[in-house]
Amino acid sequence: MNRVRQQDLGTPESTSTDIVRVEIDGLPATVPAGTSIMRAARESGVDIPKLCATDSLRPFGSCRMCLVEIEGRKGYPASCTTPVEDGMKIRTQTGDLARLRRNVMELYISDHPLDCLTCSANGDCELQDMAGAVGLREVRYGFDGANHLDAGVDASNPYFQFDASKCIVCSRCVRACDEVQGTFALTIEGRGFESKVSAGISEDFFDSECVSCGACVQACPTATLMEKSIVEHGQPERAVKTTCAYCGVGCSFVAEMQGDNVVRMTPDKDGQANHGHSCVKGRFAWGYSTHRDRVLSPLIRDSIDEPWRQVSWDEAIRYTARRFKEIQETHGRKAIGGITSSRCTNEEVFVVQKLVRAAMGNNNVDTCARVCHSPTGYGLKQTLGTSAGTQPFDSVMDADVIMVIGANPTAAHPVFASQMKRRLREGAKLIVVDPRKIGLVKSARIKADHHLALLPGTNVPIVNALAHVVVSEGLVDEQYVAERCDTESFEAWKAMILKPENSPEEVEKVSGVPAEDIRAAARLYAGAGRGAIYYGLGVTEHSQGSTMVMGMANLAMATGNIGFTGCGVNPLRGQNNVQGSCDMGSFPHELAGYRPVQDDEVRGSFEKHWGVTLDPEPGYRIPNMFDAACAGTYKGMYIQGEDVAQSDPDTTHVEEALRNMECLVVQDLFLNETAKFAHVFLPGTSFLEKDGTFINAERRINRVRPVMKPRQGKDEWLITQELANALGYPMNYSSAAEIMDEIAELTPTFAGVSFGFLDEVGSVQWPCNENAPMGTPIMHIDNFVRGKGLFIETDYVPTEERTNRKFPLLLTTGRILSQYNVGAQTRRTDNMVWYNADLLEIHPADAEVRGIKEGDLCSLKSRKGEISLVATITERVQPGVVYTTFHNPETGANVVTTEHSDWATSCPEYKVTAVQVAPATHRSQWQSEFDENARRQGKILETS
Ligand code: SF4
Ligand code: SF4
Ligand code: SF4
Ligand code: FES
Repeated sequence: MNRVRQQDLGTPESTSTDIVRVEIDGLPATVPAGTSIMRAARESGVDIPKLCATDSLRPFGSCRMCLVEIEGRKGYPASCTTPVEDGMKIRTQTGDLARLRRNVMELYISDHPLDCLTCSANGDCELQDMAGAVGLREVRYGFDGANHLDAGVDASNPYFQFDASKCIVCSRCVRACDEVQGTFALTIEGRGFESKVSAGISEDFFDSECVSCGACVQACPTATLMEKSIVEHGQPERAVKTTCAYCGVGCSFVAEMQGDNVVRMTPDKDGQANHGHSCVKGRFAWGYSTHRDRVLSPLIRDSIDEPWRQVSWDEAIRYTARRFKEIQETHGRKAIGGITSSRCTNEEVFVVQKLVRAAMGNNNVDTCARVCHSPTGYGLKQTLGTSAGTQPFDSVMDADVIMVIGANPTAAHPVFASQMKRRLREGAKLIVVDPRKIGLVKSARIKADHHLALLPGTNVPIVNALAHVVVSEGLVDEQYVAERCDTESFEAWKAMILKPENSPEEVEKVSGVPAEDIRAAARLYAGAGRGAIYYGLGVTEHSQGSTMVMGMANLAMATGNIGFTGCGVNPLRGQNNVQGSCDMGSFPHELAGYRPVQDDEVRGSFEKHWGVTLDPEPGYRIPNMFDAACAGTYKGMYIQGEDVAQSDPDTTHVEEALRNMECLVVQDLFLNETAKFAHVFLPGTSFLEKDGTFINAERRINRVRPVMKPRQGKDEWLITQELANALGYPMNYSSAAEIMDEIAELTPTFAGVSFGFLDEVGSVQWPCNENAPMGTPIMHIDNFVRGKGLFIETDYVPTEERTNRKFPLLLTTGRILSQYNVGAQTRRTDNMVWYNADLLEIHPADAEVRGIKEGDLCSLKSRKGEISLVATITERVQPGVVYTTFHNPETGANVVTTEHSDWATSCPEYKVTAVQVAPATHRSQWQSEFDENARRQGKILETS
């Protein structure tokens, strides 16, 4: 791709199905009704000059550059704000128009620094382009009058600057912040000549409400708002389309390059998940890929107390294979296994699970989705028949009521949150079910109709109570249930739901949510035309995670809310490729496409293709791997891109398991916490070096394209392939595309997918096969994938984790916008300026009785362990609940989390831990040991 600047048709597309015929400069044009004259002209190849218009924003009509003449009408209307009408005859190029446009431009230029040649936007500035387009040659007014040429530069944001001297007050930035991002951080202050863009009353960008999404920077037609990377390095020379590697929204980007260096990531307007928008992480936080901490040579050591030795790829692979073989000879075939990563591409994941099954000869493969969305896979498969969400993101624009349960989209799925907020501003209703007052509960122009602030661990009673109201108040969609669902299971479920313990009044006693609020929320959801449920890890990471997923599916089926646009049950996936890593057969009991390894026919098809006999017995899940390691029967592991020592619960147990390994292989970008226990470190590639695909939360398969060669010299799938060969199993792919061809051949839901097809259509949502050649945006349209929708009884079994006098508070965990998961990437970017330490949120009442003040160091103690954190006192949490993030390894948030897990999938119960909080004078023992270890590891590294 050579074009860096993306096409701009001036105003948004009209969705009308009525067609209007017009004539533009004598040529006929046909466009949907409601299209602006500007867009109609641009679609016909006629460029009308413009400054304040851009096709991602509603027309504003302030700059007067886009004037046209319309036959039979007086004056010169603005083409951006004037819609076409049937039979209209429009002239865009006349002498009068040229004179008018030149006059307008002359005024702009008379108040603009004439530093085009040295300006960072030179060659990519709409003002410069328009001055040329209107033929401006001189400025009659001179440059001596009142002007803004001395206005200062606000460089407070780490990623972009605001040079007020270049501002033409077109309001595109203000409108982008309002309409696209939904933060409303910017205003135009003052009037007339005095008007200027402001990020808050006497505030700079950094101290304002701005969340650094960059939409304003993208919208700015001049160099006023400009990426610092462009200011520093200059304009890009080439561009490559790829996909963000942070969250499960899966935003498409155009990576803009100078040689091998990224100078800007611009969200792709054609991206079907993000439509040209992004968040601070995807747009700006890519610097980690060239961070000095990246390890670029393979490392090995015989024992974890020794320094690392840098070795060649050949030696690292031979060493690993030898040690794995020795373990299998001594401890048996099943003493080794692997963990795949939801951060890696499908192709990379597929070869790792194949390595375990075909080369190691067992099914000891699991994925990090185990610890996040495994209950989604289980619960949705049981009830609906497929382990995935039901809708495309765009479906939210048709929702009448949106119910967000256990998710914090503005922090964790920001681009989808912006789309959701757009729909809410249009009038959709909002129900938030969350222990905390998340951003959506109340933010600029958004207010939840109901916030059910339940106690952590009481999701299931709440969903049962919502269903109780639906059933007892006659709000069931009887026709839908009769036609589409298994009626026997429905009757059994109904009887269970009507039990007194599921009434809102009883549930109020366990959840803390007033019965009337539950009733009102249930009526709102069930009474809506279209009700959509979106949920996150606040649903799944519980001992009843799978029960809750099934509870939501039950509720959606009972109210007829699956199989259409605007409704559904939609997991917001945490990592970029959680969906894909599960789809690729990473679970110990399932081959690609969620087909049981125990099924002879399924297994047979893989055996035939792979030329090997596969073990019919499911292997270990991640927690079983740790237990077996502690028991001394599991001795070797290949971990692809996951930091289990930091991310998995009950750190002490995990560390003990890792310490027991005879050969632990870590494949990652950085020497992470897990690598402290590793014998082999195989450097991985960042997303900028990968060739492959990611699958986002809406089942969308997006291409990831390399913008540079692997910095450590090898594609990740090739590393795995070489290890398979060294273990004696031949693997001979010559490209990632070939791996996808094999996935398609072996997986019915992917049968129509290939790199060539994706390059042609952009992206596609699985299933994509003969029955659905262009993919499947909405699932379960006429029938559920499993046939009839199955209601499953969801009796509430409380967690064993209880509060008592010693541990009276409930700890729950989550993320913030600027950081990502264990922070391995975002901590190596300027995002640190916003959040460089995990904090403990505590309610003022709980803080007061403990004598805790804002900023105090506190001890956080559970039955499992103790850490210390700095307290922040806030009413975002309710009394009795405390909250923290887990972005920094030195915090050790998982030192306190427990071994409790989901009954069906073993997904850890991160979201409920009984704790006590008290003032502290020093860091906890675990943290002191962590610091000491970090110092020791640093020394080991220095000597390596
Ligand atoms: S900062 Fe840019 S987008 Fe905003 S008003 Fe000024 S010129 Fe227009
Ligand atoms: S970066 Fe985003 S949030 Fe900040 S002012 Fe610009 S549009 Fe608004
Ligand atoms: S919303 Fe997610 S996928 Fe999109 S830019 Fe942000 S982190 Fe990347
Ligand atoms: S582009 Fe139409 S008035 Fe500015």
